[in-house]
Amino acid sequence: MCGIVGHVGTGDALEPLLTGLQNLEYRGYDSAGIAIQNGSGIDVAKRSGTVDDLLAAIDRSRLEGHLGIGHTRWSTHGPPTDENAHPHTDTTADVAVVHNGIIENYASLKTDLEAAGHEFSSDTDTEVVPHLIQHYLDRGDDMATAFRRSIDELAGSYAVAAMRDGEHSLYAARNGSPLVVGIAKDGYYLASDVPAFLEYTDDVIYLEDGDVVELGPDGCSITDATGEAVRRRRERVEWDPEETGKGEFDHYMLKEITEQPTSIAQATEGRYDSRTGAVSFETVPDGTFSDVDRVVLVACGTSYHAARYGEISLRRAGIDAVALLANEYGVAAPPVDERTLVVAVTQSGETADTLDALRRAGESDATTLAVTNVIGSSAARDADHRLFIRAGPEIGVAATKTFSSQAILLTMLARRIADETAGTRSPPAKADVAEARSSSVADRWSDLDRLPSLVADLLETSSAESIARRYRDDRAYFFIGRGLGYPVALEGALKFKEITYEHAEGFAAGELKHGPLALVTPETPVVTVFTGTEDAQTLKNAEEAATRGAPIVAVCPDGHPALDVADAHLRIPDVDPTLSGILATVQLQLLSYHAASLLERAIDKPRNLAKSVTVE
Ligand code: F6R
Repeated sequence: MCGIVGHVGTGDALEPLLTGLQNLEYRGYDSAGIAIQNGSGIDVAKRSGTVDDLLAAIDRSRLEGHLGIGHTRWSTHGPPTDENAHPHTDTTADVAVVHNGIIENYASLKTDLEAAGHEFSSDTDTEVVPHLIQHYLDRGDDMATAFRRSIDELAGSYAVAAMRDGEHSLYAARNGSPLVVGIAKDGYYLASDVPAFLEYTDDVIYLEDGDVVELGPDGCSITDATGEAVRRRRERVEWDPEETGKGEFDHYMLKEITEQPTSIAQATEGRYDSRTGAVSFETVPDGTFSDVDRVVLVACGTSYHAARYGEISLRRAGIDAVALLANEYGVAAPPVDERTLVVAVTQSGETADTLDALRRAGESDATTLAVTNVIGSSAARDADHRLFIRAGPEIGVAATKTFSSQAILLTMLARRIADETAGTRSPPAKADVAEARSSSVADRWSDLDRLPSLVADLLETSSAESIARRYRDDRAYFFIGRGLGYPVALEGALKFKEITYEHAEGFAAGELKHGPLALVTPETPVVTVFTGTEDAQTLKNAEEAATRGAPIVAVCPDGHPALDVADAHLRIPDVDPTLSGILATVQLQLLSYHAASLLERAIDKPRNLAKSVTVE
């Protein structure tokens, strides 16, 4: 959702800025641009298209200087044209600005500025900012004051960075959009997200809402909205810069799918006792959940599917739980009280819809918990408690390894809440327990121990590529499952449509006959997920589709009865049902990846999408 970068230091700013934009391109790739102070003014290079398109077009000799800003865009106001690309400047190109977020009052600000003689050249909300700064400079303010006054006038969400010709400092502010400062020997880095500058430094300060920062030869000064100095903690980021590169892979998505043995091991490491089954989280003190009698999970997209996975795990542990789309939470929030735990599930920790739901929950009596991948993220800071999924950086726009880590952590959270509230609840529904193939904690945790190697084996042996090839010319793709297989089916369909642009839908297996069966033909493969509970009923639903001529792709263990009706088999090992959905998901990720690859889609940057959606 737009990425911004900035650099001020002793060396040339161009390379760090371009590296930063390439590393942040997952946040938007409609257009890109940079502005550098080159000794004789501010030079701006910007255009619609990707950072590579920008690179091919720039004249490097004009872009030499120690101070600059850059932007990669996901359009919100105005189409992705050269004029709408950032940075934006005032009429005299004295001030340049990049922005991530939405300035809600830009129309009235623009009207006032136009009345005062300012001329605008884009359709963006952002362009009001350099004009506002110039307005205050014209009144005699210095840059620091003009910047602060301008920021004070903005309503909405923003991370903004600005520079002025002849000034040796960069100015930036955040409210509702992420912004992080990197501190290195050769100067300061500024970015929407850490991977932008990880090659240069891992020493960071996460800015908070209301912070205004000045970075320059005199150091880094952070103040609040009133100009009072504020102290922010310096932190070391543990991500390895190698982790953020593509390595030998053609796409980040495939790299990240392949990383799951490691990310799953990291998610669980040191967090459960395989002997007793007890779960402990280093960031959540014992007893935190002892009063919880209801869990409300809020999330969007893939994280919502992980939340649905968690909802079922919680209910099966006897805990009242519901997963809601975060963007619907404000429309009809469920009743919550001091015994409700609201869990925001968000990989980036910056999704505006999820943050809004978290904020609303925070204003109630409920306790809030963020399940996220990003330590300094807004969700991690806004929630009462936080749980990190430790998946490492995920660059591909289509979430993969973060889904499996979220689903596992939520499964563990269910166990932890069940333990802490034991004795205060009625036991789990008998049916839920009976349906599980193996329900002992020892079995489950020993399967969890084996999960990384099972995923590694599955990655080696998957037949997803040949299945994708076999069905590449079909009309639509349906994914069905029951119980934990249902969120897995939803996620399988989301991944498929997101990166192939083909029509794909996920359904609860039992719902097929209540309407969607009308869509089923010999040209609509039905991918059926068997997770080990209620498989007999799911098999009946697959048979209903097979009778209408649909090819059945069964996601199940070897020897499963579904193989009698299946046309193709995506094999998963026979493990505890709470975990088989994770393995099924990995197969479905590979299926989508190979289908998109055959269609030569922009797998890491699907059209119209961006990672980390920081607008509502
Ligand atoms: C799909 C995908 C999105 C995100 C959603 C929420 O592959 O990645 O659906 O899951 O935008 O993002 P986070 O988890 O960052 O809140």
